[in-house]
Amino acid sequence: MKKSIMIAALLLTGVSALAQPQLRKDNIDEVLAAMTLEEKATLLVGGARAQIVNGVTSGVAAQVPGAAGNTRPIERLGIPGTVLADGPAGLRIQPTRQGTSQTFYCTGFPVGTLLASSWDTALVEQVTTAMGEEVHEYGVDVLLAPGMNIHRNPLCGRNFEYFSEDPLLSGKMAAAYVRGIQKNDVGTSIKHYAVNNQETNRNEDDARVSERALREIYLKNFEIAVKESDPWTVMSSYNQLNGEYTQQKKDLLTTILRDEWGYKGIVMTDWGSKAGTVKSAWSGNDLMEPGNETEIQRIVAAVKDGSLDIQDVDRNVRNMLNYIVKTPSFAKYKYTNKPDLKAHAQVARQAAGESIVLLRNEGVLPLKGSEKVALYGISALDFVAGGTGSGDVNKAYVVNMEEAMVGAGFQLDKTLSDYYKAYIAYDKAQTAISGTVFSWFTSRKLGEIAIPAAAIANEAKANDVAVVVLGRNAGEGADRKQIDDFELTSVERELLRDVSTAYHAVGKKVVVVLNIGGVIETNSWKNLVDAIVLPWSPGQEGANAVADVLTGKVNPSGKLPMTFPVNFMDHPSSANFPYNYQQAQNSGWGWGPRQPQKDVDYTNYEEGIWVGYRFFNTAKVGVSYPFGFGLSYTSFAYSKPVVKATASGFEASITVTNTGKVAGKEVVELYVTAPEAGLVKPARELKAFAKTRELKPGESQTLKLVVDNYGIASFNDANSAWEAPAGTYKVCFGASVEDIRSTADYKLGKAQSWKVNDLFELNVPLNEITVTRK
Ligand code: BGC
Repeated sequence: MKKSIMIAALLLTGVSALAQPQLRKDNIDEVLAAMTLEEKATLLVGGARAQIVNGVTSGVAAQVPGAAGNTRPIERLGIPGTVLADGPAGLRIQPTRQGTSQTFYCTGFPVGTLLASSWDTALVEQVTTAMGEEVHEYGVDVLLAPGMNIHRNPLCGRNFEYFSEDPLLSGKMAAAYVRGIQKNDVGTSIKHYAVNNQETNRNEDDARVSERALREIYLKNFEIAVKESDPWTVMSSYNQLNGEYTQQKKDLLTTILRDEWGYKGIVMTDWGSKAGTVKSAWSGNDLMEPGNETEIQRIVAAVKDGSLDIQDVDRNVRNMLNYIVKTPSFAKYKYTNKPDLKAHAQVARQAAGESIVLLRNEGVLPLKGSEKVALYGISALDFVAGGTGSGDVNKAYVVNMEEAMVGAGFQLDKTLSDYYKAYIAYDKAQTAISGTVFSWFTSRKLGEIAIPAAAIANEAKANDVAVVVLGRNAGEGADRKQIDDFELTSVERELLRDVSTAYHAVGKKVVVVLNIGGVIETNSWKNLVDAIVLPWSPGQEGANAVADVLTGKVNPSGKLPMTFPVNFMDHPSSANFPYNYQQAQNSGWGWGPRQPQKDVDYTNYEEGIWVGYRFFNTAKVGVSYPFGFGLSYTSFAYSKPVVKATASGFEASITVTNTGKVAGKEVVELYVTAPEAGLVKPARELKAFAKTRELKPGESQTLKLVVDNYGIASFNDANSAWEAPAGTYKVCFGASVEDIRSTADYKLGKAQSWKVNDLFELNVPLNEITVTRK
């Protein structure tokens, strides 16, 4: 187009011909000033997902099929579109494309819960440094990860994506995750902010939570991640919090996130299109995803009729431009579509091995590696690498336990494995014909298959050891159930019973591998078996990592990032959790008007701060496996610790010595018992942790752990302040929350407090439970 015609055209559309700056890092205000209201609104709303019409892919995200969303370009001002794609267990894009035989697979890394079980921030950063290379080389600007909601209850369907029941562990893991990804000059989106702790009615449910529980538990992990890793983006959640959608909640998105924590990036909605676009924009939610034209029109109309201040729009647009100039799309990065998948598979295997938790070992592990093994359980052959839904990575392959065990040198009972293979093929055929009960939630139609006791007795004679793999597959959109999921199914119980009876009768051992996504019941059956190995859903190479642990090639050093309770109902949150999905369905949520239903339309967080071990350890309620627990093939001694006051808190050092016969790593967990000074407080709270390098037998390492006074303060709602009272703080060094090896005192001479805003008003009564130290 000739310049004069272009100017005329622009004048006709009301845009000054002179105001055409091209976006640079240093001219954001100039570009902002040149934008029309429509352009501004366009930048605040994502574009439609890529569409395939008559074989042609179109849409703003067309360059990366399978990406979850994008931001819209404004070509006139040199503003590129940017591409957003899911995680967190790796990049999620479409693996094949029309018109090319090239593939675009991504590495299936261990799920978040397994990464957190490593208690190793350097390892997590190493994993996500590799993951981020895939984001960069496949032309994506932001990975929609990590997922970091607190494991409030064992049955949240997406717990596998999330890290822990403890906010410090969750926050540190998230920060390490973000640093690794962002080293590749691409962004992250810490999600789902906030209090998205159930999947049932996740779009509407109103989480009702006290300000203390919010600040100490549900926001603390986000606070740590924001302050320690500076994520490019934050994803606001679908749910409501104390009566308002989080994505429309100014106290959450602006007052606390930006004003109190100093967050500088953008906030985007989770993937939906709520009616309150204008309130979202006003609250500090910069970007609507996945976005539609109506949302653009709403913003434009609201500015025109005065219900939305242009300054709010400009603030959000400025945030967007600041984000855009950081992206590879802006830098016109020539991505290769060829990340180093081979190298990353090794990273995935090593990370899984370093994170696996050994829960029980009665003189059976490690195995020699040459034994004859009978592999039981459909998950041994249909191995669960990750969860379903948006967190599912399109990986090129998943190693199963048969391949891994053969690779490690074991001889497998082929007849048994072939039997399972035939059953799995039948199961998959059934699924293909009629779908699963909830096909989005699980890829299996039929459950575990029963094996006749007589057959097991024969297998016990013919093999040296039994390995039983129990599997669970969970994912986005549904919570798990108590019956037949948290608790074992009757077929699984019979399998464990019959295998244990038959193998023990001939003096042979039974090893259980828990290939699960969330906590299951273990107390009623754990003593039947000789060893329990917990790899969670460990990614495409995870079965190899399990074999590495079974043979002792890797000495397990993972520890539980949450509690394994005796009973589901022992968790105080279970009293207010939709653990019976069927019941929720039958009540008809989603179909027509009806009375608001408990745990579906609203969820009262009556347990307050008593989440996970904070409750069990304080109330002295017995558990199956405590928070922070994990065995090793060696043993460790802890020295007397030294705790020294610093200007802002204290520094602790403790020497760990490998007192066993093989090399290994140990995680030291630092818990604090704080003086209560008028507030009820947990008996122990995790305040720091550190992991040794691999120590040879007899070798020692001194670990330094740093804690500041703000970190040991509790939130006093009455004063709207974090308070660290003067007094003696007991510093406990543990191998789990229940296994304290040595202690020291930290004396705080003068009370300290940090005043904050009075937020998160709750308009309904919440009967929080009371727990007192025993
Ligand atoms: C999920 C997010 C995800 C988004 C985009 C949503 O349904 O809750 O975690 O990032 O979809 O796929």
